[in-house]
Amino acid sequence: MKRTSQIPELREIIALERNRGRKIALIPTMGYLHQGHLTLVERAKQTGAFVVLSIFVNPLQFGPTEDYSSYPRDLERDVRLVEAAGVDALFHPTDHEMYPHPIVTYVEVGQLDTVLCGAKRPGHFRGVVTVVSKLFHIVQPDLSFFGQKDYQQYLIIQRMVSDLNLPIEVCSVPIVREEDGLAISSRNVFLTLEQRQEALILSKSLNEAEIHIRVGVKSAREIELNIRERISRESHGIIDYVEVRDAGDLSEVVNVESTVLIALAVRFGSTRLIDNKVVEVRTFV
Ligand code: PAF
Repeated sequence: MKRTSQIPELREIIALERNRGRKIALIPTMGYLHQGHLTLVERAKQTGAFVVLSIFVNPLQFGPTEDYSSYPRDLERDVRLVEAAGVDALFHPTDHEMYPHPIVTYVEVGQLDTVLCGAKRPGHFRGVVTVVSKLFHIVQPDLSFFGQKDYQQYLIIQRMVSDLNLPIEVCSVPIVREEDGLAISSRNVFLTLEQRQEALILSKSLNEAEIHIRVGVKSAREIELNIRERISRESHGIIDYVEVRDAGDLSEVVNVESTVLIALAVRFGSTRLIDNKVVEVRTFV
């Protein structure tokens, strides 16, 4: 595996592979890798592309009171994991390599970034889209892979690629869960045993919401309320949001009549967890 923190060196590595006729796949990450990331690697490798994985904890996407400084980091552990997973090149730039001077140019996807996590974390998606856009310019991948746990992020990046005519296929990979249902996340390490146990209510309540939809409950408000009540009854989690939205454009839903995203964010102590479920609903005419 090639490994570099330098943009020019990464560009040379990629140019060589492109000249050999290889497609390039990019997996952007913030490190502290887990099975979710390794599944993205697996999927990228299946395409036969030269797989580049980036590790960069992007300061631009953290608010002033958020967990940028405490975000988990362990580069040498990550190196062992990506090497074993068969990544072809690891890019782990420093802050200075990515932002050599204060940035004044941003990439922003409107509308989609004003709801859900966008409403709760002002500036977050501007930071995400800007850094992903920089990575896309540095690597110029043919394909890029994102996990569906950050469903809104995936939709936003897909929209940026479409609006800016970037020749990149944005691929999404289903959420990877622990055996007991907890969505795998780098932030799970911060949960106490008790919080981790209580956090199981997230996937349970999402599964229950899907059942409600399947048996005919249509009211989005009723579904949201049921989830809220269950989380509040069975855990100490503080709800940031629970929302049923259109899975295609995140617009508001009154009655569930087409495919919806049920998305939630809940804090357990200082750890904010997100989870979601896409429920496919077909209407027959
Ligand atoms: O999903 C993440 O880990 C980050 O938001 C990303 C896409 C790597 C951008 O920093």
